[in-house]
Formats: sequence, C-alpha cells, structure tokens
Amino acid sequence: MLVSATEMLKKAKAGHYAVGQFNINNLEWTKSILLTAKELRSPVILGVSEGAGKYMGGYHAVVGMVNGLLKDLDIDVPVALHLDHGSFEGCYKCIEAGFSSIMFDGSHYPIDENVQKTTELVKAAHGKGLSIEAEVGSIGGEEDGVIGMGECADPKECKAIADLGVDFLAAGIGNIHGKYPENWKGLSFETLDAVQQLTGELPLVLHGGTGIPADMIKKAINLGVAKINVNTECQLSFAAATRKYIEEGKDQQGKGFDPRKLLAPGAEAIKATVKEKMELFGSVGKAD
Ligand code: 13P
Repeated sequence: MLVSATEMLKKAKAGHYAVGQFNINNLEWTKSILLTAKELRSPVILGVSEGAGKYMGGYHAVVGMVNGLLKDLDIDVPVALHLDHGSFEGCYKCIEAGFSSIMFDGSHYPIDENVQKTTELVKAAHGKGLSIEAEVGSIGGEEDGVIGMGECADPKECKAIADLGVDFLAAGIGNIHGKYPENWKGLSFETLDAVQQLTGELPLVLHGGTGIPADMIKKAINLGVAKINVNTECQLSFAAATRKYIEEGKDQQGKGFDPRKLLAPGAEAIKATVKEKMELFGSVGKAD
C-alpha cells in the first residue's frame, strides 16, 4: 500500500540519511526502482512530473500501475507516489487520483501568492492523508537550450512557507535539474545552513540530484536534507545501456527485437543507478 512521505522523511532527518525520489516514466522504470528498494530494504519515493504523468496516459493510469506492482511484486517497503513540481490544478488532480504525496511548486509566484496557494493545498492534502512539499527559490536547469543557474532561497521566506504546515521543503541552494555545467559554483551550504536554522526539524529536499559530487551530498544530508531527487541520471544510464545493446547488433540476433529483451539492459542499468544512490544517501536497510 502506498504511504505518505511524512513518516519516512521524519525518520530520515532524525537518522541523518536521505530517502531518494526517483522519477518514473513507464513500467520499466517503476519496476526497476521498486525491486531495488525491496532488495535493499530501503524506503523510496516515486516522482511523477506533470509531463511524465501525461506521457503515461494520466494520473489514474499511474496510480493503477503503481498499486498493481506493489501487490504483484509483493513490495513490502514504504513507497510514496509523489507529484513532482505540481501546478495548483495538477495537485488537486493527483489528490483525487490516489497519489500519496504532492509537491506544489509555487516558487515562480510572488511569495504572498505562494503562501496563499500553499496554505489551501496543505489543507486539501492533509484532509486526504497525503504529504505535501513546497518550494522556495527556483531550481535552475536547461530550458530551450539556456542553462539557468539555481537561485538561492531567502531563508525568511522558507520559514514563512514552513510555518504553513508543509511536510518537507525544497529550498533552492544553487542546485539545478539535469547535468551541471562546467562553470557550476557548487551548492550554497551557507544558504542551506541558514534555512535549516530557521526551519528546525522540517525535512529539506535537494532537487537536481544528478551529478552532485558525493561529498556535497553527504554535507547536504548533515545540514538537514532528508529527500534527494534523481531523474536525469536514470535516463542517462537507461539510454547508454540501450544504445550499447543496439550498437552491438543484439536487436538483430534471434528475437533480440522483442521489447522484453530490447529494454532489459536499460532496466538493469536503472537498478544499478538506484542502488548506487540509495547506498550514497544512506537509506539502505532503513525500511523496517
Ligand atoms: P535531476 O534530473 O537533475 O536528477 O533532477 C531531478 C529532480 O530534481 C526532479 O524534481
């Protein structure tokens, strides 16, 4: 059964480790992540962006697929199904569809509007037993070929959003989605420290987990990060393994074109990436 992410992240913050949010795109992704979490006895959060939700057919299709896999694969570790960077309307749709957690990304609104919309969604999410993540300070990344650097959050604004009763908070600390550019200045631990001082026990979220060096990940966890989002890295390992299979001509040998064979190396590569991240984040063995 799906659970909200509140308990697993409270435990992670208190235990000085982080739970990975791995974004899903299809059945192979979801199966690989769930099986790895089960094997490593790790709690896990499945992230679904609005675009990926649409790609998979819609939020009901996603909920049906995930619940079916939990049952058929006998997944007995805590799993949350979480909307990633949700719009105001998207959050309501996921609450209705059966997600167990949502993120409202109001970071592009003026702070007063972010506060007002987050307040309403906290009530709606908690009323149905879901956890809710909010965001302050935008997270950079590539958009139409332009790479924006992450913007650091204002710790006072973080405190204002934290006080609304959100369960965990994404604060921009110079992190960006996708690959980090050569001239990236690194995470702002000064900002993270200031945010954690003002928000106390609240679990903090680090987006843009792909490509952040291990020492920075460990330092971020020490400063209160309890959830780390990874998306691009699974896509890169899936693509590399699939490319290798095709370049070696394996799709041309026997029934190598069967999707169950063609997609298998990519699915195995996702498992390896998820395992590596769970080990780095320290969530292995924390499911029980
Ligand atoms: P990456 O794609 O950089 O791993 O970021 C994932 C993320 O933060 C999803 O919200």
